Amino acid sequence: MLIRPRRNRKSDATRSLLRENYLMPEQLVYPLFLMDGKKIKSEVTSLPGNFRWSLDMLLPEIEACMELGLKSFILFPSIDQKFKDKTGTHGYSQGNYYLKVTSEIKKRFPEACLISDVALDPYNSDGHDGVVRNGKVDNDETLPILGKMAVAQAQAGFDIIGPSDMMDGRVGYIRQTMDAEGYTDTGIMAYTAKYASAFYGPFRDALDSAPVEGADIPKDKKTYQMDPANKKEALREAMLDYEEGADFMMVKPALNYLDVIHLLNENFDVPIAAYHVSGECAMLIAACQNGWLDFDKAMPETLLSIHRAGAQVILTYFAKQYAEMWKECCGDFS
Ligand code: PBG
Repeated sequence: MLIRPRRNRKSDATRSLLRENYLMPEQLVYPLFLMDGKKIKSEVTSLPGNFRWSLDMLLPEIEACMELGLKSFILFPSIDQKFKDKTGTHGYSQGNYYLKVTSEIKKRFPEACLISDVALDPYNSDGHDGVVRNGKVDNDETLPILGKMAVAQAQAGFDIIGPSDMMDGRVGYIRQTMDAEGYTDTGIMAYTAKYASAFYGPFRDALDSAPVEGADIPKDKKTYQMDPANKKEALREAMLDYEEGADFMMVKPALNYLDVIHLLNENFDVPIAAYHVSGECAMLIAACQNGWLDFDKAMPETLLSIHRAGAQVILTYFAKQYAEMWKECCGDFS
């Protein structure tokens, strides 16, 4: 035999020398759930190890992450029922604590990268990402609201705006609205191929943001989020977001859509991100809690697979644990 692939795997040294992909903590984005108030650190039951934080409790957590080399955070607000209405006006109201908390975090950690979420669902009494009219989610009535939310977030100090709503034309609309207000340096991470997935459950528990049941309210998000059966359609969404000025593009969820991550990475010259969503993380946590899988091995393997598929950036609830482990082993998880 002339060729023996096993020679390259014979020792730790050769394996690490020839390892094709490394995923650094800097490439991760840590999703954090916020709550208004003080001294709150309330665990999300369906996503153990993840919490809804009040600002005072969150600041030391962010500091600990930064020390581990984890510098990017995506922030999601849990909004009191009394602030919800049909058009999500609280999303851009000056009284919205999400905006104030962001300004405080930015003041304390100017070197952190803060990413927002733009969609109506936390603020909408119908629980949808857009305005519900006559039983339908109205695309064009939603756009100006998203534009106002984005401007308010840019003003609050977010570095990158994250439209997660899947309305048509929203990336371009947000880009133009922000530019007109002078926020030309605020980036856009587009949720480009966001699927109508069953894996968002724990997230909706955390924020109480699921579609509300009602006669004239669509029961799911299938008229705007993508059909899990579709791949070519992801290229179409990507072409639009690219042309509308997205700085980078995201696929969501990650694990069940590795082919889509690969496809977009092959076809576009902007960075591709993947959102390793709440349900995907919850599955792994549950199996490890049962003793069926070894977390310290299964978790890094999972994140590496998403990276290898073509995601340069990964949003994951395991970001902090990964960074802690990285510190110990410098990327050799074997
Ligand atoms: C809201 C939004 C969702 C997630 C991120 N932004 C839920 C949804 O679309 O219903 C899900 C993230 C996760 O499950 O971790 N627009």
